[in-house]
Amino acid sequence: MGRILICDDHDSLRRGLARALTEAGHDVEEASNGNAAMQRLHETGFDVVVSDLRMGGADGLDVLRTSKSLHPTTAVILMTAFGSVHTAVEAMKIGAFDYVPKPFEIEEMEVKIAKAIEHRLLRHEIDYLRHTQQDIYEFDRIVGASGALEKVLDVVRKVAKSNTTVMVRGETGTGKELIAGAIHHNSLRATRNFVKVNCAALQENLLESELFGHEKGAFTSADKQRIGRFEQADGGTMFLDEVGDMSPNTQAKILRVLQEHEFERLGGTRTIRVDVRLIAATNRNLASMVASGQFREDLYYRLNVVSIDMPPLRERKEDIAPLAEFFIRRFSGELKKKIDGFTPDALKLLMRYNWPGNIRELENAVERAALLADERTISAADLRLGDQPTGDTGDAAPVVKLPPTGIPLVEIERQALVEALKMSNWVQKDAAELLAISPRVMNYKIKTLGIDFPRGRRAALVAYAANGNG
Ligand SMILES: Nc1ncnc2c1ncn2[C@@H]1O[C@H](COP(=O)(O)OP(=O)(O)OP(=O)(O)O)[C@@H](O)[C@H]1O
Ligand SMILES: [Mg+2]
Repeated sequence: MGRILICDDHDSLRRGLARALTEAGHDVEEASNGNAAMQRLHETGFDVVVSDLRMGGADGLDVLRTSKSLHPTTAVILMTAFGSVHTAVEAMKIGAFDYVPKPFEIEEMEVKIAKAIEHRLLRHEIDYLRHTQQDIYEFDRIVGASGALEKVLDVVRKVAKSNTTVMVRGETGTGKELIAGAIHHNSLRATRNFVKVNCAALQENLLESELFGHEKGAFTSADKQRIGRFEQADGGTMFLDEVGDMSPNTQAKILRVLQEHEFERLGGTRTIRVDVRLIAATNRNLASMVASGQFREDLYYRLNVVSIDMPPLRERKEDIAPLAEFFIRRFSGELKKKIDGFTPDALKLLMRYNWPGNIRELENAVERAALLADERTISAADLRLGDQPTGDTGDAAPVVKLPPTGIPLVEIERQALVEALKMSNWVQKDAAELLAISPRVMNYKIKTLGIDFPRGRRAALVAYAANGNG
């Protein structure tokens, strides 16, 4: 049943209709003229407005227009006297849901109201679906299963709709650009441009002409005027990649855009105003660059309103398998090669490797393996990661580095165990394999050395112990 506003200056008709609709179970309010109805519409919303067309003062069309502008999905039904069909047609054009010629049977009105309520529910449902579907579409490009990634996406969802400046930090290949894109595509600016500029790729002058544009003759090779990226991004989002690599001059100009929303083209005198949301990314430690005077402190704080830290892949190993599967599906499609997945050994290797190049490196490794694979499953050998299983210890460097003050051997053992467990995603059996000891010895050492498992990993330990093959 619905919330209904009835507006008619004909008292007995209005009251009769209100009584009948209340009896039918609706929640009904009355307004005895157009102005009263419009007043009420400013205060609250209804599912359906039933209004007489011709009234003294504000008429039914005024009520209709007010309702449409304040509550676009509210259905408006107009009651028309004989001879006003012409106005009724106009009312339909403005967006009335229906009209009923007077006199009418109460049942006829009840049927129209029921239809109007159903129609409104459907409209809401469609809007809702459209909205969530868009979100799914945008977020389904971001693959992963780790709590760390979920936390990042939570922040993305929260900040996307605002105009806040966002700083995305993280090692190379962790998905900084992908996250910046997700913020833009889920923002109110989604229909406008998402413009990317890599500050590390260009020298100072070229970078500034890229960002702000230039006038003809601004410098020797400027033979025509050029519109800068900030102008292209007007109304949309600017993604400034490698923001730590800007000269002090460029930093000052970016600060001005952030504070005053304005700049001039190189060689130009006219001040250009823009409405641009900024997302910056860096894999450098900006805080220490501020401390050493390489990066402006005021700009640092302006950029850092919200910061998102992309965790390296080795710290979110739960993402490795879903990402690898995702890349396999993509590349087997692109290469038109039937590949179903990975051998257990290959998966183990993927989990063990420490991925200094993060997700981009994983993507490349899977692409290479998909090209090389002879079978329908990718083997450990296809991955070609064997040469540097942990990625960070060079051949010549010693595995253990002793502090000059010395260290008890048992402490080194402890650290080795923790390292192996981390590398194996806290699966004891795999960690034992890495250290060439039996699972039983592993289990014993974990207990005697009192190694703490991260929360949620205990289950694996218990399940393992319960298997009785430790
Ligand atoms: N969670 C993810 N799901 C799917 N693909 C991902 C994910 N994270 C990263 N990628 C892919 O990995 C590659 C690297 O990501 P991206 O370019 O966003 O990283 P980056 O942090 O900007 O790297 P760099 O610092 O080198 O510029 C891209 O091809 C991207 O699509
Ligand atoms: Mg990038």
